[in-house]
Amino acid sequence: MTLIEQLQQLRQIIDQESSQLASAEDAEAFRLRHLVKKGTIQACVEQLRSVPKEQKPEVGKLLNEVRALADKAYEQAHDRYASASSVERIDVTLQGRGPQIGAVHPITQTVDRLVDIFASMGFDVAEGPDVEDDAHNFEHLNFAPDHPARDMQDTFFVDAPGRSDVLLRTHTSSVQVRVMQSMKPPIRCIMPGRVYRNEAVSARSLAEFHQIEGLYIDRGVSMADLKGTIMAFARRFYDANAEFRFRTSYFPFTEPSCEIDMSCFLCKGEGCRICKHSGWLEICGAGMVHPNVLRACGIDPDEYSGFAFGFGVERVVLMLTGIDDIRLLYENDVRVNGQFAP
Ligand code: DAH
Repeated sequence: MTLIEQLQQLRQIIDQESSQLASAEDAEAFRLRHLVKKGTIQACVEQLRSVPKEQKPEVGKLLNEVRALADKAYEQAHDRYASASSVERIDVTLQGRGPQIGAVHPITQTVDRLVDIFASMGFDVAEGPDVEDDAHNFEHLNFAPDHPARDMQDTFFVDAPGRSDVLLRTHTSSVQVRVMQSMKPPIRCIMPGRVYRNEAVSARSLAEFHQIEGLYIDRGVSMADLKGTIMAFARRFYDANAEFRFRTSYFPFTEPSCEIDMSCFLCKGEGCRICKHSGWLEICGAGMVHPNVLRACGIDPDEYSGFAFGFGVERVVLMLTGIDDIRLLYENDVRVNGQFAP
């Protein structure tokens, strides 16, 4: 038998055997038969010397093929059965892995906590549509027709057949309008929701975020009620010993308007990273609902008054967690979100 014939035969044998390797022992026996120094393949290698020169390339090629076939068959069987035998070594008394359950997103957790506190103070939750019209988002809130906030640069307008006043709400104050239009005072509502602004996305701002709006309308509601409500809320939510600062401000829909600051809950006013070394944290914009807004929503400003406030939820989450890039809250990376699983 020539070496070529031997190799062809050996290839058949290896082919057949490799389909029958059914254990680590089979694989080892196969290796000892074919792949060691005294094995079948090496025996062929030794005969190569006596092959005429012109046949060497052909024989050598075949030999390499047969060797590769045997190597592969052995490795596959070895991997399969070696790992199977290590499975058998697993300590079955160890506790199993629990099922992975999801967790509430940190933004939703925060909204839930905020809502709970206001609910305990008698506020109901109200919601409105994300796609709004100019009347609810701006006009009834006393924004002048040429107010810059209406500008294309801030507002996402929606293509709607035959209409140019459809937009994505830029704040949850639009829900105030809907609540006042549909309810009779006394009104006590908290209004969480998503809002949209045509802003460049950065570590500090997103084009889509969450706000919470508050509204209280009744006879004789005053700025003192606003102060008392916000302070009671912030002492429960952030810090029982917080101090407050009411700064005058301007919003078209409130008069007077203010921004409310609280002593930093982390450094207690000393100055730290969270409060940017000022000792103060801004908690919300607020004010007494403007008489024009009450009137536009069908409430008599001579009989009723009220306060409103609003703030961004993501900023609250960043303050509480120390996360310094708002985009992390929207990437849904479980390595981030998993840290806030309750
Ligand atoms: N709508 C304001 C904003 O988006 C927040 C706000 C400020 C809401 C004062 C209010 C308020 O109700 O009284 O920036």
